[in-house]
Amino acid sequence: MTQKPNPLSSIPVSGPIPAHLARSVIEETLRSAILDGRLPCGTALRQQDLADLFGVSRMPVREALRQLEAQSLLHVVAHKGAVVAPLVEGDAAETYALRILLESEALRLSIPLLDDEDFAEAARYIDDLETQTDYAEIGRLNRLFHMTLYRKAPNRRLLSLVESGLWEEERFLRFNLEAMGLGKLSQEDHRELLRAAQARDTALTVTKLENHLNRGVEVITRYLNSLEPQGKKAST
Ligand code: NI
Repeated sequence: MTQKPNPLSSIPVSGPIPAHLARSVIEETLRSAILDGRLPCGTALRQQDLADLFGVSRMPVREALRQLEAQSLLHVVAHKGAVVAPLVEGDAAETYALRILLESEALRLSIPLLDDEDFAEAARYIDDLETQTDYAEIGRLNRLFHMTLYRKAPNRRLLSLVESGLWEEERFLRFNLEAMGLGKLSQEDHRELLRAAQARDTALTVTKLENHLNRGVEVITRYLNSLEPQGKKAST
């Protein structure tokens, strides 16, 4: 990989930006540069550098960075400022292997405690996912569907670990499926999961979940490899 001394040089700024548009222009420009890899993971984004680049004060820069942080595209690191977040923390295969462990345990604990209301809610999320075309909304609905099946597990620390894995996946769905042009996502996996849970067949539900998440890690790995034109080795 070529080492760019300043990744910001890849960002085009055409002329002065009207003050009232500054925040949204900066936000959009940085978001697309993060998503298409011009600003690689780990890049530090200093407020003053960005203010100079866009020819604005630091205030709209700060606002734009805050938005991007809320979308999990940036982390704010002490003494370093805003840093482009990794798409998936660490190795995607390892991350998903852990998710399978955690989410399988959540299912085992939760399934016996789920009631008709939980099943009805999960079914509604699947129906919404079937018609939804907005990737931000797809990411959110996917997280809510899965949490509905896990949430009765009486272990809050387990659930919070499970949910952070789902947040990470939400970011991936929000910003990267679109870039891959995958189109509509089949809900067959989710329907099978729900059917198995409704039948209280924990072993089958866990198997369906493993298949579902293994398909997820394949998509992510393919995407991560597509960002590495020089052929970094697949992580699977
Ligand atoms: Ni899912």
